[in-house]
Amino acid sequence: MTADILASVAPAAFYDRPIPLRHPFAFYEGHIPAFSFITLNERGLGEAELDPALERIFERGIDPANATEARRHDRAQWPERDAVAAFASRCDEHVEHAIATAAIEDERVPRLVRAQAAFTILEHEAMHQETMLYIVHQLEGERKRHLTGRHEDRAAPPNEFRTVSAGTATLGADPDEIAFGWDNEFARNEVRVAGFSIATYPVTNGDWLRFMAEGGHAPIFWRQRGGRWFLRLVYEEIALPRSWPVYVTFEQAQAYARWAGLRLPTEPEYHRAAFGTPQGVERPFPWGDEPPQPRHGNFGFQRFDPEPVDAHPDGVSAWGVTDLVGNGWEWTSTPFGPLNGFEPMASYPQYSADFFDGKHFVMKGASPVTARELIRRSFRNWFYADYPYMYAKFRCVAA
Ligand SMILES: [Fe+2]
Repeated sequence: MTADILASVAPAAFYDRPIPLRHPFAFYEGHIPAFSFITLNERGLGEAELDPALERIFERGIDPANATEARRHDRAQWPERDAVAAFASRCDEHVEHAIATAAIEDERVPRLVRAQAAFTILEHEAMHQETMLYIVHQLEGERKRHLTGRHEDRAAPPNEFRTVSAGTATLGADPDEIAFGWDNEFARNEVRVAGFSIATYPVTNGDWLRFMAEGGHAPIFWRQRGGRWFLRLVYEEIALPRSWPVYVTFEQAQAYARWAGLRLPTEPEYHRAAFGTPQGVERPFPWGDEPPQPRHGNFGFQRFDPEPVDAHPDGVSAWGVTDLVGNGWEWTSTPFGPLNGFEPMASYPQYSADFFDGKHFVMKGASPVTARELIRRSFRNWFYADYPYMYAKFRCVAA
């Protein structure tokens, strides 16, 4: 999938930065293999460096904090494409060799406990596939190869509220419960949640049009031509589908909720609505125990774009709440922070701790381009309140 996404970028756009605060595509082509090699082979298994200069350029995926810093990353500091590709394949060869032959699980080495470094590099790559796609999304049409899909719109269902009774929400997990988790998923935290009412479906583009008629602003993915609204998808532009979830920033979602006299759910409320049951037991997924299948929701690259909010009745939670996992991440009102028992992970200590700043908010669930391996109850995503490029939807709860 990584190679497919990079191949959809026109060669002339390889050094483009359609999102100014993000690195060019050239960075991602080198970063994913470099991060894998450094994390597993060097720091995990103690192998020698392959190319210290290129490793330094491509190691860090953390983006510049502001536009001034971003401007310093000009074209000249990135190697030629052939050099990036050659470096990437050398890293890949070494990583594949290590996975096939080395002791990647070793309970005596902190970075190799439960094969942590190997899982880290696999999930790191999957997350960057999503990052790359939302950057490709912002490229102008002639800078990418068009991959068109089939899109359906329909009348959106009435968005009734469902009652979720008071009970326990289990956030996070204990290390023994899951094969792998990022540091922000530990430890297991049981939280008491009061009863609340939550919308059956996320807010749709059609709902957002009504908000705009009363002063709301258009989301970044929308375009207006000749008095009609269009939606910019990753690879094409279509008439605005009213029944799809609207993708907006945290601030926009909050503005909508205030306008509607509602609010966003907290992270524990999301858990309760998605995984809780009237009987009191909690389940791994909204639909129950079965591992995620295409019929449960729009995730795992079945398509690049959203679908109508009621396209997956098989994914409904025990309370009748639909589309909680897939079709776009869901904003919660909870600032991203450590769970009780948090410890920075050995193989990637800056992964979460750099973002516990009160300015990032937790998103849960999955988008259409979230890999299936990332779908687990404890997984948490997070972004700045005004970051507009993410595939993030929301639903409201009664205030
Ligand atoms: Fe990265």
